[in-house]
Amino acid sequence: MIQRAKSLFPGLSNGEFGIIDQSSVPIIQSGDGARIKDSNGKAYIDMTMAWGSVLIGHANPVIREAAFNAAKSGTNFAALNTQMVELGEKIASISPCVEKIRFVASGTEATMLCLRLARSITGKNKILKFEGAYHGQHPEGIASMVALNDRSSAKANSSGTGAPWTKENVVVAPFNDLESTRSIIKENASDLAAVIVEPLHRCLKPVDGFLSGLRQITQDSGVILIFDEVVTGFRLALGGAQEYYGVKPDLVAYGKALGGGFPIGAFGGSEEIMDGVNENRYSKLNYTWSASTTGGNPVSCAAAIATINILSEQQSYEQLHRLGGDFREQITEILASEDEPFQVLGDGPLAQVVFTDKPVNNSRDWAVANRKKGHQLMQQLIKEGVFLNPMGTKMYLSLSHGIKEMEEFFDKFACALKSINKL
Ligand SMILES: Cc1ncc(COP(=O)(O)O)c(C=O)c1O
Repeated sequence: MIQRAKSLFPGLSNGEFGIIDQSSVPIIQSGDGARIKDSNGKAYIDMTMAWGSVLIGHANPVIREAAFNAAKSGTNFAALNTQMVELGEKIASISPCVEKIRFVASGTEATMLCLRLARSITGKNKILKFEGAYHGQHPEGIASMVALNDRSSAKANSSGTGAPWTKENVVVAPFNDLESTRSIIKENASDLAAVIVEPLHRCLKPVDGFLSGLRQITQDSGVILIFDEVVTGFRLALGGAQEYYGVKPDLVAYGKALGGGFPIGAFGGSEEIMDGVNENRYSKLNYTWSASTTGGNPVSCAAAIATINILSEQQSYEQLHRLGGDFREQITEILASEDEPFQVLGDGPLAQVVFTDKPVNNSRDWAVANRKKGHQLMQQLIKEGVFLNPMGTKMYLSLSHGIKEMEEFFDKFACALKSINKL
């Protein structure tokens, strides 16, 4: 399998992988709960859970059944369908800012539509994002992520975007630094359409007052505030980061966990802003074209309805938060015997280990950490039978991670640390 894949896939991956020992790249064959198996029959505890899109667990019978039943009556109509309406109603009742919604097929589409909509509505050109943030595969989503910008200016670094113009149209600010953000917004306000933020920036919690401050500044400056809740949506709380951190944006983008592993994305906001995609405005200057062939297909929507039903059970978020809290505590304990200083980041069912002695509040603090060691640790964990993406060091937990998986993980984590310390 590895040889066959090697002849086809650049870097022996379908994107963002970077496993150095290419003879051990897992080609996944199956998944069940929090575990997966590769084509050689090797079993792994999954600590990436399809980059967080499988929050309930692999091959969950309820989600599988819902999708299967929907598929029996047709897999895609590229039009309003009954599952889409039911899902839209659910999200509107859950998400603080959603009055109107549209479905797409990925998080990338959802954030891209939010940005385009903000530009059309305001007639302004620039977007502000936070250094190091990822908002999907469109140019603005990547700017100043692959490589950080030069701090002397707020112009984005366009590395990895394939779009040199992002230097001009994207401005960047340091996450968790409200004063710098305020002055960059003020400087650019006449040309700034929107601020897009991951409320939990990668794995970094917002400091007290940062998100509410951002809400206030954007409101005062006539700039649209977009929450990229592709990661935080339905994960930190049913109402996502909006509910969890108590701040309401103008527009929100969802993806990942919403689909229970099926491809989905959604964007929504107030009736007034979302009217920008209304085809009645077709050909008017402030109209935004929005159409996604497989967006809102009944199979993904049925899977999403089943996912939300499971997450709506009272114990789900208690379990996810307890799991994440215990997980961060245990790895902190294991790492305490290390000589290398470290920080354990995260919130809810998310965790990340960063080797640095300084508190990490933004991507620049993270960029100066010992990333080589983080990368080595991830690589070694894969050898020990833990699946994750070694490019980042973020780990995703799910409702399927039980005591057994956690105990096994901690043993493997301790072994992996010992092994890399011998290198
Ligand atoms: C915060 C954030 N936004 C957007 C995206 C893009 O989502 P997708 O990969 O579904 O296009 C991602 C993907 O990792 C993400 O982490």
